[in-house]
Amino acid sequence: MTNLNKEQDRGQWGSKLGFILAAAGSAVGLGNLWKFPYVAGKNGGGAFVLVYIIILFLVGFTLMLAEITLGRHTQVSAIGAYRKIRKKWAWVGALGVLAGFLILSFYSVVGGWVLSYLFKALTGALHVTDAEVLGNMFGGLISSTGTPIIFHAIFMVLNLIIVFGGISGGIEKASKIMMPALFVMIILLALRSVTLPGASEGLKFLFVPDFSVITPTVILDALGQVFFSLSLGMGCMITYGSYLSKDTDIIQSAIAIPVLDTAVALLAGIATLPAVFAFGFEPAAGPGLMFVTLPAVFSQMPLGGLFAVIFFLLVLFAALTSSISLLEVCVAYVVDEWKWKRAKATITMTIIIFLVGIPASLSFGVWEHIKIIGERGFFDTYDFIASNVLLPLGGLLLCIFVGWIWGTDRAVKEATNDGQREFSLASVWVFLIKYLGPLAIGAVFIRSIMAAF
Ligand code: PHE
Repeated sequence: MTNLNKEQDRGQWGSKLGFILAAAGSAVGLGNLWKFPYVAGKNGGGAFVLVYIIILFLVGFTLMLAEITLGRHTQVSAIGAYRKIRKKWAWVGALGVLAGFLILSFYSVVGGWVLSYLFKALTGALHVTDAEVLGNMFGGLISSTGTPIIFHAIFMVLNLIIVFGGISGGIEKASKIMMPALFVMIILLALRSVTLPGASEGLKFLFVPDFSVITPTVILDALGQVFFSLSLGMGCMITYGSYLSKDTDIIQSAIAIPVLDTAVALLAGIATLPAVFAFGFEPAAGPGLMFVTLPAVFSQMPLGGLFAVIFFLLVLFAALTSSISLLEVCVAYVVDEWKWKRAKATITMTIIIFLVGIPASLSFGVWEHIKIIGERGFFDTYDFIASNVLLPLGGLLLCIFVGWIWGTDRAVKEATNDGQREFSLASVWVFLIKYLGPLAIGAVFIRSIMAAF
């Protein structure tokens, strides 16, 4: 009886497809649409893409399977999962919750910018061809006080509404509608971009690797991007895996999710970079690529106004399916650990994350002068602590935990549903999780810390 009640409070995915779409929804986000094209642009295009894909195969799949397996085995969210197997490791799960909490605080600020740009696109305010005017428009938005905070609040309320609905009724349902829509929209945009005159330059840039530009920095940047983009290292996939029933084929899911995530990242690159080339912009333009360059590109295209609306709607969907997973990690912690009701947990977490996000928003305006770590303001400090410290550390510890503490025999047993499922690459996976994973991730972590000082 108590078990049953507990099960109902936690919830479960309605179907395997629902789980895959929700998990892919978590993975596909601003990391793919906003970050991937500009990081690839900055790191020489094709070379970065090649290294990204190699790392995806070696580390991405490995950690994805490890997190989902750990979650499904323990049927609790991150902290409980570690604790259930080795009491002393619970703090690793707590690090993940902290990372999720921090990421959502600034992610929601960017989500707010996206919302605001969707409105701009709808009213035609983005129909400007001059990149400088668009740059000022973007600068004006993020440096003002009230507007970005209001949009940050609206973005958090959208999260609240979805996560409030629970696992199958809220997150799964939303993902089932938003993810297919997202695929259709990004394919449409990619098609528009590659049919522009001069687009082939962009495709060449993206897909023909220049091996001479592969440096350690490119490799380490790609590794970091794999991490962030796949939502790994903070227990998000442990939590999503904990809502899986024992008969789900998790090996298949652990393959499908990175494949979908990478498909969207590449499509985002295809939608962005050829257009950037076709209109003579710089591929290495950086974080402004999405908010400044792309609207300029849209304005110069036939039906550009329509494509701008489609694009920002797509970015909003992608950001939302990621942010709800971040909120869910925090909510699951409170539901599992403090035994709170889901409703109370969701509302409380939403309010706290909104409040913590306010300084991040203000750090582009009135609080620009406040520096926390080095030259970083609130926004960059949250990002730095979460993405550069907590995620790599979490991933490293996950490898050690699954490889050496829980044990790969037990992990393989869970992953294969007690040997019922074929897992021909099990020995490769064991090698990756025990040796290559910790080494590679350790390298990123050390570099991140060194780069900070
Ligand atoms: N993967 C998401 C993105 O690419 C971000 C994210 C990171 C979500 C960690 C959840 C956990 O935007």
